Amino acid sequence: MQIIDGKLISNQVKEELRIEVEKTIKEGGKIPHLAAVLIGDNGASETYVASKIKSCEQIGFKSTLVRRDAHATEEEVLEIINDLNMDEDIDGFIVQLPLPDHIDVDKIIEAIDPKKDVDGFHPINIGRMAKGLPAYISATPYGVMELLKRYEIPTAGKHCVVVGRSQIVGLPMSILMQRNAYPGNCTVTLTHSRTQNLKEITLQADIIVAALGRPEFITADMVKEGAVVIDVGLTRVVDASKKSGFALKGDVKFDEVAPKSSFITPVPGGVGLMTVASLMHNTLLASRKEIYK
Ligand code: GUN
Repeated sequence: MQIIDGKLISNQVKEELRIEVEKTIKEGGKIPHLAAVLIGDNGASETYVASKIKSCEQIGFKSTLVRRDAHATEEEVLEIINDLNMDEDIDGFIVQLPLPDHIDVDKIIEAIDPKKDVDGFHPINIGRMAKGLPAYISATPYGVMELLKRYEIPTAGKHCVVVGRSQIVGLPMSILMQRNAYPGNCTVTLTHSRTQNLKEITLQADIIVAALGRPEFITADMVKEGAVVIDVGLTRVVDASKKSGFALKGDVKFDEVAPKSSFITPVPGGVGLMTVASLMHNTLLASRKEIYK
């Protein structure tokens, strides 16, 4: 069994990006500029956005944080998006999810200029990805693909079972894993909360991508000997022994599943760190106009 080290790989990716930016600046090119929109005071969102801004600093990107409280109206958020769409110095931006309930998330995402949608959430980017056209690929699935690639994990002809059909992870993950590419060329099964006999299906998986957001849901009896296990879950559970008052739990019961697996991502220290590195990668692509000329 080998642990897939998300910290190591995300640091490698960020170092590669830092060197690229250094070169660009020496050559008189534009410094990549990422903006993040944060509405409300969701604790997890605050942590994620802070880590995105910190990564920008580490790599040498410019960053801008636009914050509003939870009472911000949909119109106000649409106005912020319009300003960022028009701002020529901003190469890409993200609107951190979840948004407060009174804001229509689809309306917000569709208002983002697809050329600046470095989260890859806009229907145009999802559609282009599905067709295999150049597109921003959403950061978490992109991070998983990068881990599979850098650990040289064989995927062609394998059965990949994705658990969870979220727009952000499960759905794009299933599209990417079936593509005629590496990583990819898998036979993909996308499972969800209405799937019958889930265990029968996961037991057939050569690669399991657990992305349902239920702590320790995937247990050893659901996993075939030698499977590759990718844990996308990141749920805060109360833990009085921690200074923060909570612990981060994945969707996989790591201690019992790890001995059965060939490769496994830990939580924390796995996929989560790759999400930020992938967003930085997309921002560099945006500043170089590599997706949309
Ligand atoms: N909320 C959870 N994951 C993400 C992400 O990758 N991007 C944004 N914008 N919000 C999120």
